[in-house]
Order: sequence, then structure tokens, then C-alpha cells
Amino acid sequence: MEPFVYLDLDGQGARYAQLIRALKGAILDGRVATGARLPASRALARELDLSRNTVLAAYEQLQAEGFLLGRVGSGSFVANVGNTVPQKRASNTLIAPLSAFARRALANTDGRRIPGRQHLDLRYNLQYGLPLTNPLLGSVWRREVSRAAEHVEFDYPDAQGLPALREQICDYLARRRGVPATPEDVLVVSGTQQAFALAARVLLEAGDTVVLEDPHYRGARQSFAAHGAHARGCRVDADGLVPAALPSSARLAVVTPSHQFPTGALLPLARRVELLDWAAERRAWLIEDDYDGEFRYGGRPLAALKSLDRDGRVIYIGSFSKALFPALRLGYMVLPAVLRDAFVAAKWLEDRGCNALEQAALAQFMGDGGFERHLRRAAIALRARRAAMLNGLKKHAAGVVEVVDSNAGMHLTAWLTRANHGDCERLVAHARTRGLGLYTVAPYCLKPPPRPGLVLGYAGLPPADIEAAMRLLGQCLREVGLAGD
Ligand SMILES: Cc1ncc(COP(=O)(O)O)c(C=O)c1O
Repeated sequence: MEPFVYLDLDGQGARYAQLIRALKGAILDGRVATGARLPASRALARELDLSRNTVLAAYEQLQAEGFLLGRVGSGSFVANVGNTVPQKRASNTLIAPLSAFARRALANTDGRRIPGRQHLDLRYNLQYGLPLTNPLLGSVWRREVSRAAEHVEFDYPDAQGLPALREQICDYLARRRGVPATPEDVLVVSGTQQAFALAARVLLEAGDTVVLEDPHYRGARQSFAAHGAHARGCRVDADGLVPAALPSSARLAVVTPSHQFPTGALLPLARRVELLDWAAERRAWLIEDDYDGEFRYGGRPLAALKSLDRDGRVIYIGSFSKALFPALRLGYMVLPAVLRDAFVAAKWLEDRGCNALEQAALAQFMGDGGFERHLRRAAIALRARRAAMLNGLKKHAAGVVEVVDSNAGMHLTAWLTRANHGDCERLVAHARTRGLGLYTVAPYCLKPPPRPGLVLGYAGLPPADIEAAMRLLGQCLREVGLAGD
């Protein structure tokens, strides 16, 4: 598609409504001129990763409102709406000079904000990803950083990661995740997000197919889409990814076998073996995103997929965002030997390595046993929050939601049993007016899920607040007519 104009979808509500707002904004502030021809619906859909029907619905609505003129067979044109302000153009007109990567990046994210974090004014925000708040950790971390500052070297660090930290990571992985790794196999990265970006650079050409579980983690989709990869969804059921639904070929697949994101399923051993065989037969790579593997509250933990990787097809990613806090921006990859040099070279070119001071502090924290102690405390706190949420759902939303109790992580997925997608959007909008932040499963899906669902994060609120939030959820369900009195 010819460069058109940067359209900033704001992530709020239905996607066709987001597109309408973005197009109106561009027309009203003069970024697209009267008479300009809009891209063909198919091309715009591809560019923005929307369905064609979504684009057609937005175009129709804008025609009905007089923003566009349609000429059958020749496309849609911007009408003269009389109140454009062309002088605003200079600052944010993005017509030509951006790269294809930048245009895809802007189309796939809002470019600045963490989605939903603008709702922090809510009384109870159940947004997934809000960290566990632990005031103690602040003082512990300050002490570790100042101790590390006494001995950290001031030259550029090893781009692969400080050896002391890589050793600690190997020790941790062997004990807690069953992953055998040597420090040579480990690359320290600034979070899972950088691991995705490096994987895209090292392993993919634009147009290559990447398999994503459907539903899946949005950060992965956005990163690979910005790189120009073509995302293919793979069905997920109550046991996680369905190997029989994998496509016949792909360059790589991103999987969450320990705790399917966001449904919470634990992939059984037989499916793990099938998945590994699929990758080995196609020489495809498997990215194992083990984002919250350290928090299991019951049941038998399964070792990471990487522990079964005889053919060297699995790229394992761990993150300290959940285990510690996301502001740290530290994570790691365990790489098959054949990929190591290419990934380290990409990391060196990207940023010359992660911040040495934070790495040294973390290595100390892990070496002294402080990290394990923190994990134990965090697991106790999370278990109590999870119990408060489960009890609250039982009490206030029984029969209306079906909860997948995955016994792990920092969130639950609750499927609405008596509602359609529109009802679910209404519930979310209504809850917001009552100070309750709810978030649907829909943004994590390539195809609309068969039932509407909510992803309920419980890390960010103490148990008493979670109880109150569940009571309020019950009220909201009644107020929008999804539960009886
Ligand atoms: C599925 C999944 N993977 C990875 C991460 C961590 O990402 P990062 O390490 O970039 O903070 C998250 C955090 O929310 C996640 O939900």
C-alpha cells in the first residue's frame, strides 16, 4: 500500500469504532485533504491488521456521517467537511518518510502508552500485568543496587550479559524449571519484548509465517507484526495449544506451555512431544515464553518445554517482570548453540548489552538467596489474592462466569456463560463508570473467541480490595442484565 497517513488506533472499544475515530481525527485536523482517496479496504485492513469487514464497516459509517464520499467502483474520497485545520499539519503529519517497520509498529501499537494504564484512576483496576506491590522490595532493591555500584566495572559490559548473572540464571533454571543450560547458552535481554524483537531480526524475513496461539500475548503479535511477519493462529482448548491445528509450515511458533496466555492451560506431556516433533520435522523454531513459571500454587509443576528439547529447536525466554517487577526490564533467553552468535551480535548492535549495574545487583540478589526468599513471599501474597478472587467470583458471579482455575500465575480467565461479545463490551463500559477496570479476552485473539471472556489480573490489589471488586462486579453484572437479582 502507498504511504497513506499514520492512523493511531486508541485501543478503546470495538476496532471499527477505533478506526472511525482515527480517520475522523485525520480528516478533521487536515492530515488527509479534502478529495483524497482512501486506501482500498483490503489494503488498509492488511496494513492495520484488521479484518476487511471492520474497515468496510468504518468506511460505511463515515459515508453515512458525511465524512466520505463513495463512488462505486472507484473508492472512497474525503468529503469537504469545512472545518479542517491544515495549520496543525506540520507536527504530526506522517505521510511519506517513515519506514515500513515504523508504519507497521505504529499501526500495531499506540506507540506510547501501556494499553489500559491510563485507567489508573479506577477504584479497582483488574488489569492484567499490574505488578505485585511490595514496599519491602523497594528498600531491598535499593540496597542491592548501591552494593553493586561499589564493584561494577564502568566499561561496556559483556553484551551477552554479566557472567555472574548468567551463572545465577542457569542455577535457577536447573532447580526451578528443569532446564539444563550453561552460561554460554544464556543471553540477558531487556525483557521478553526485546527477546521477541531479536528473534524477529535473527530468524525472520518480512512475509514469513509466525504461529501464535489463539488467544495469545499481544506483545508477541505486535513485535512480529511490526517486523512484517504474517501471524497464523493456532487453536487452543482446555489443554492449551492443539498440535493437530498447527499449520503445515512456518518459520517459528510462540508458545506458552506452562501457563497458556491468557487461558491458563497447562500443556500435557503428549502435546509437548507432538509440538517438538512438528518443529523438528519442519526445522521451525519454537519460542517458549515462560513468563510466570515461578508461580504455581498447587498441582504438579511440569518442567519447561525446553527440558525436552533434544533437537535444539526451542528458544526459551524468561523474564523478571513477574518474578520481580516490570520496571527492571531484565529477562533472558536460553539459545540453541547454533543461534548463539547471531543473537549476541544482534544484541550488541541493538544496545551494547543491558545495564551492568542492575545486572550486578540482580546477580547478588540471586546469589545471596534474597531472590528465592522474595519468590516465596510473593507466592504467598499472590495465593491469597487469587483465593480472594476465586471466592468472590463464586459468591457474586456464580453461574454467570466459568473460571479456568489454572493454579498458577497472576490472573484468571473468566468466560461469560450467558453473554455475547456485545454484552461483554457493555459490561466493561458500565463497570468503568462504577470505578471497576475490567478487560476482555478479545484483544488477545486473532479470531473472535467462541465466547466472550474477561482476563482478571489479581496481582495489583490486596485481598480486601479484590473482595470489594468482586462484589462490585456482581452488581455490575446485575445492572447490565447479565445476572438475576
Ligand atoms: C505472556 C507474557 N509474556 C511475557 C511477559 C513479560 O514481558 P516483559 O519481559 O517484556 O516485561 C508478559 C508480561 O505481562 C506476559 O504476559
